[in-house]
Amino acid sequence: MTTHNVGPNGTGSEQTRLEHEIARRRTFAIISHPDAGKTTITEKLLLYGGAIQQAGSVTAHAGTAHTKSDWMSIEQQRGISISSSALTFEFLGRHINLLDTPGHQDFSEDTYRTLTAADSALMVLDAARGVQAQTEKLFAVCRNRGIPILTFVNKLDRPAQDIFELLEQVESTLGITAIPLTWPIGDGPDFRGVYDLVAKQVLLFERVARGKSRAPVSVKSVDDPELGALVGVALHQKLQEDVALIEGAMPPFDHAAFLAGELTPVFFGSAMNNFGIEHFLSTFVDLAPAPGSVRTTQGVRPPEAGFTGFIFKLQANMSRNHRDRTAYMRVASGHFERGMDVTLTRTGRKLRLSQAHTLFAQDREKVEDAYPGDIVGLVNPGVFRIGDVVSVDARVQLPDFPRFTPEVFATMSLRDVTKRKAFHKGLEQLTEEGVVQVFYPTDGARDPYLGAVGPLQFEVFQARLQEEYGVDIEMHVTSYSLVRWLAGDASQVARFARSVEDDQGRPVMLFRSNFDLQYTQDQHPEIEFLPLPKDL
Ligand code: G4P
Repeated sequence: MTTHNVGPNGTGSEQTRLEHEIARRRTFAIISHPDAGKTTITEKLLLYGGAIQQAGSVTAHAGTAHTKSDWMSIEQQRGISISSSALTFEFLGRHINLLDTPGHQDFSEDTYRTLTAADSALMVLDAARGVQAQTEKLFAVCRNRGIPILTFVNKLDRPAQDIFELLEQVESTLGITAIPLTWPIGDGPDFRGVYDLVAKQVLLFERVARGKSRAPVSVKSVDDPELGALVGVALHQKLQEDVALIEGAMPPFDHAAFLAGELTPVFFGSAMNNFGIEHFLSTFVDLAPAPGSVRTTQGVRPPEAGFTGFIFKLQANMSRNHRDRTAYMRVASGHFERGMDVTLTRTGRKLRLSQAHTLFAQDREKVEDAYPGDIVGLVNPGVFRIGDVVSVDARVQLPDFPRFTPEVFATMSLRDVTKRKAFHKGLEQLTEEGVVQVFYPTDGARDPYLGAVGPLQFEVFQARLQEEYGVDIEMHVTSYSLVRWLAGDASQVARFARSVEDDQGRPVMLFRSNFDLQYTQDQHPEIEFLPLPKDL
């Protein structure tokens, strides 16, 4: 690409600057089964990125301090991460955006949306547990999006599975080629470090008190006789054997296959002890892709094109100091400047983006500039929906932004009917965020049904309604477990007692079982039961 032409963003030098900023952006998310160490790794990455001085100020536990990305009170009570926020740091001249994603399975819908804003993902595995249920589900989401995935096998300071078996498990369960770029030397109390299979060097780690500062790293060759004295003769011998086996049997790392999502480079370490994190990060910034083109209704839009951003998440009441609604926007192309005039392309409405801020937990700083890959928080006066595009080009829209299909349904009733107004406001804002989905009975007489992927979403909804809107509700989980969208004669559809409408007025029916669904389909050939959106 030429860099001196006048580009769509203005002068030649602006275009050069834009290309430079795009090239140094790395936007990624961490996916893992709860407890594998995502929070600890996030904290250590921030430590190496200089974003926090000392790790340990930020661990995710009930009743103790929390990571900066873990800020809502229900998260604090439960010690789980519910909402996703975006953390930013610089490392080796790269500008890194780390999207924090909830690990709990009930929040995979939120995670899915967040992953639409990531250019790559880091999959964290527990060295003893390997691939777990939630890893598989989140992996499938990344696979669906075709984004490159790196793997960090954590907790090597504890007894681990056989590493060859673990890699085999990754390949057979997830269907991706796993190529180690480092290799652990020992595990559990014998864990001594890793061998860098690319640089052919040994990185030895020293335990530092509570992993609170950077781990010293010294480098030796794998055949260095001194190594035997350092790690013990048995471990040294095993390492030499393992390395000989890997070098003889494993295909080399193929960057193109990685970028295509067919191969995952695997790293080993212990986040708690800072083992392997810095090496991972310095390799990550070279391997992971910079922001690429985005598919839109107007064709493929390169990141160098004029400014376009898309909204992938909405969040109400983010912090007590700022009781407002925030839309998370990923810059897809061009240079974002605070105060710029854009079109909200779904409605054609003109907007001035003057209220833009960072999303680093409760700290808010104004964002003056942003580039493709960056995440900007926009104050949302209620105009944005998930999947919306704001652009200097009024025609650009995203193809459909899919949602998870709910699998549990609840009814609810207000404990204090005088709170009806606040209830509707809370219901509207929290469903707009995607905390739960709402279905309205077509007869209008009954309270709406809520739909969720897992029941914890209901608890979050109930708690947030109480805390943020002062509304107390009673909820009852129903025996419905399936939902289908319907087409056909509207008057026929409305005759069913369990017929409801989604938040966009589309007719929907709820079922208790597959048998129930099948039976209803057989009995009512006049109604068309639409296939579900592409399943995740
Ligand atoms: P998550 O966000 O994926 O759920 O995991 P998180 O980082 O919170 O880690 C879950 C538990 O695993 C924590 O222990 C954490 O300290 C521990 N952990 C993380 N990385 C490592 C590691 O490399 N080695 C070992 N041995 N443990 C690790 P916890 O018992 O829940 O709390 P804590 O008292 O240790 O803080």
